Amino acid sequence: MRSEKPRVFVCRQLPQEIIDRLNEHFNVDLWESDMPPDRNSLVEHISKADGIFSLLTERIDNEVIEQGHSLKVISNMAVGTDNIDLASATKRGIPVGNTPGVLTETTADFAFSLLLASARRIVDADNYVRAGHWKTWGPSILLGRDLHGATLGIIGFGAIGQAVAKRASGFDMKILYCKRTPIESPEGINATRATTDQILMQSDFVSLHVPLTTETRHFIGARELSLMKDSSILINTARGPVVDQKALVEALRSGRPAKAALDVTSVEPIDMNDELLSLPNVIIAPHIASASVATRLKMANMAVDNLLAGLSGERLINCANPEVYDQ
Ligand code: DGY
Repeated sequence: MRSEKPRVFVCRQLPQEIIDRLNEHFNVDLWESDMPPDRNSLVEHISKADGIFSLLTERIDNEVIEQGHSLKVISNMAVGTDNIDLASATKRGIPVGNTPGVLTETTADFAFSLLLASARRIVDADNYVRAGHWKTWGPSILLGRDLHGATLGIIGFGAIGQAVAKRASGFDMKILYCKRTPIESPEGINATRATTDQILMQSDFVSLHVPLTTETRHFIGARELSLMKDSSILINTARGPVVDQKALVEALRSGRPAKAALDVTSVEPIDMNDELLSLPNVIIAPHIASASVATRLKMANMAVDNLLAGLSGERLINCANPEVYDQ
């Protein structure tokens, strides 16, 4: 009977097959808009829910969690959980699910797309053609940078960082990486461990793959940017606040690094008056690194799986605060 099913607040319209799956198991309270619920609505709906299907746009902080009087599971359709106060969820015994693994290759594809697009000036080239500037083939029109033979520095060498390295190997790039805990370079990838400063100083491309935590907020600031080569390109598909965006604007203005290619910004969506948008040497995408049809479906299904497990009293398949089970 519908009323006996656990009540789940679903924060956004989702593909019909996901909604069908949710309806099969839960009493679904669907936020039908394409925009996220405002804070008051979020609190109101959470206060009646046993579970929540959230996206990275929902800020689920302590105040919100406290209103979840019967909340038993938070299932985030993202690998990152920086939008959720994990400590507060843990304190209240609420497991938080996320979606690692399924988006690794798709995100790495996109990081590499940004790398290629900025190195080979794809956006400039498209604008050039559309503006009617293509009058002839010219020896110095729209010259870009080679990937082969260049050095790619990867900051954060987890699954996505390693997947980017795999792609860079195929492009004959030299790869440097840094990771807090040393790991063997994965099979088939010739990558050298280095310090963050060495990576910044020696790389032609620097790609960021660290999660956003209190330690990584503004990990790349004015000092770090000043270490980069004046020809280098910074790629960020991690989280916007990993980079101090004000410092990045200044750095790009001064030409060191030469360019940035960003899928994430410190505030999302970016304010249309943000100075970053006035710079010609940056390309910006609207946080779409995992946005392939297949991957988004896998992420949504994984988030449903986590809800199913959590609301049947089982351990979440992917849990971002496993310590919740130790208490
Ligand atoms: C994540 O999952 O954390 C990405 O940023 C969105 O797919």
